[in-house]
Amino acid sequence: MKIAILGGTGPEGAGLALRWALAGHEVIIGSRQAERAKAKAAELSERAKGATIVGMANREAAAAGAVVVLALPAAGLAATLPDVKEACRGKTVVSTVVPLTFGGPRLHTPPPAGSAAEEAQAHLGPEANVVAAFHHIAAHELASEHSIDCDLLICGDDAAAKATVADLGKSMGLRVLDIGPLTNAGPIEGIAALLATINRRYKIKNSGIKITGL
Ligand SMILES: NC(=O)c1ccc[n+]([C@@H]2O[C@H](COP(=O)([O-])OP(=O)(O)OC[C@H]3O[C@@H](n4cnc5c(N)ncnc54)[C@H](OP(=O)(O)O)[C@@H]3O)[C@@H](O)[C@H]2O)c1
Repeated sequence: MKIAILGGTGPEGAGLALRWALAGHEVIIGSRQAERAKAKAAELSERAKGATIVGMANREAAAAGAVVVLALPAAGLAATLPDVKEACRGKTVVSTVVPLTFGGPRLHTPPPAGSAAEEAQAHLGPEANVVAAFHHIAAHELASEHSIDCDLLICGDDAAAKATVADLGKSMGLRVLDIGPLTNAGPIEGIAALLATINRRYKIKNSGIKITGL
């Protein structure tokens, strides 16, 4: 699969890129600046010898990818997505975005749409198939060399898009749980805010979740 990761220069996108490249996928790192994307792609290629990882500006990356992953801060969605709307038409778009506000009274700060994933869907229009996923897979875990000890919860409104994302999760060794429509993205993103709080309180970088009872 050819996967474009917008904001792939950050720790979450770079970690996903590394895992997918090692699993045999072609990865395109996207950035607001093509040079930064190329530099990150070169750095990751050193860790994934023989893999295909290239860098491009976000718009070109979105156009080149079969799947487009949003790995940028929630504050960047409004500025980034109108520019890639056309390129995302008919594609699976994965939102890893957690709407957090640091230093204020409330860490989890969902937008009026209900969740960052629903905001992304609104910016991209109904032709893009947005799936919310990977919020609970810490960048620190992705960058490690051991297997990831966490379940992957995904939600979205298009069954085929969810199946594609489930395959991407399984390709990095994760157990995947479909938790329904995109309106469930708010709770998924909220749990990621809880994990961020746990990380800070317990001075760790990689808390995660596993569902019991299955
Ligand atoms: N870090 C984690 O462990 C983790 C875990 C789960 C989910 N997430 C979520 O995944 C997303 C990415 O996390 P991250 O830690 O990698 O984030 P980050 O480092 O803050 O940002 C990732 C990339 O987004 C681009 N960016 C930054 N501000 C932007 C803006 N205003 N508009 C457009 N692009 C912007 C930057 O790339 P360029 O400057 O190259 O364009 C940056 O390298 C976030 O929404 C986060 O909540 C993170």
